[in-house]
Amino acid sequence: MYANAKSTVRTAITVPQLHAMKGKGEKIVMLTAYDASFAAQCDAAGVDAVLVGDSLGMVVQGRDSTLPVNVDDMVYHTAAVARGVRSALLIADMPFLSFRDADTALRNAGRLFAEGGAAMVKLEGAGYVLDVIRALTRHAIPVCAHLGLTPQSVHKFGGYRVQGKTKDAAAQLIADAHAVAESGADLLVLECVPAALARRITAEIPIPTIGIGAGADCDGQVLVIYDMLGITPGKRPKFSKDFLAGRGSVGDAIRAYADEVRNGKFPAPEHAF
Ligand code: KIV
Repeated sequence: MYANAKSTVRTAITVPQLHAMKGKGEKIVMLTAYDASFAAQCDAAGVDAVLVGDSLGMVVQGRDSTLPVNVDDMVYHTAAVARGVRSALLIADMPFLSFRDADTALRNAGRLFAEGGAAMVKLEGAGYVLDVIRALTRHAIPVCAHLGLTPQSVHKFGGYRVQGKTKDAAAQLIADAHAVAESGADLLVLECVPAALARRITAEIPIPTIGIGAGADCDGQVLVIYDMLGITPGKRPKFSKDFLAGRGSVGDAIRAYADEVRNGKFPAPEHAF
């Protein structure tokens, strides 16, 4: 009965489609959103994937790190975003310590899927996280890995710093990127790593890479929506750009971002490390 159903709903973006986009060299456009209205703007502008990032702790809740964000916060915002998207793939971040072992991760990812409407979860790191990725993917929960500057490790890093700058650190990042892909991750966010390193990882691993401060050669790009609208308080990060400047609406700004990612204009060399 569904095969012949007429629908005005745009075709939803799926995980296999993101893989196919890497194969065809089509850039993947991702943005964060934390509520239904911004999610609907992203969706209408043709953004491929919307990430409910735990960055909401900083840009929505006004905290100075992502560490205080909890699973209830993520479920609440993911459910709000789910009401705004019709087509974009919905990815929800797993907050600090919510994936500390496989059982805890399955319970919390289950909530993000069942109560929040997510289609993928994102988790930071490698090491012990590889077992968690394997457990989630064994239970048909698609995973986006996140390497490089992983903000939940801010105290270990001693600040929000570019990662993978030394030969050893770069080698570790390359090994971790292969390991998350081999463990079953379907997507990999690379945050604040040298562009040449991100290019190498993107060429070597079979899953799409999504860069933020990782140069133009990743398979796609993501930004925090308030950064690219120029409304995050304080200094804009080097890797971001104000797409609302000189444009009349949020929708125009998001469309300009999507166009610039797809035609390779963003990020420019001045946004890379
Ligand atoms: O929390 C977040 O918004 C993120 C992106 C910046 C990748 O992790």
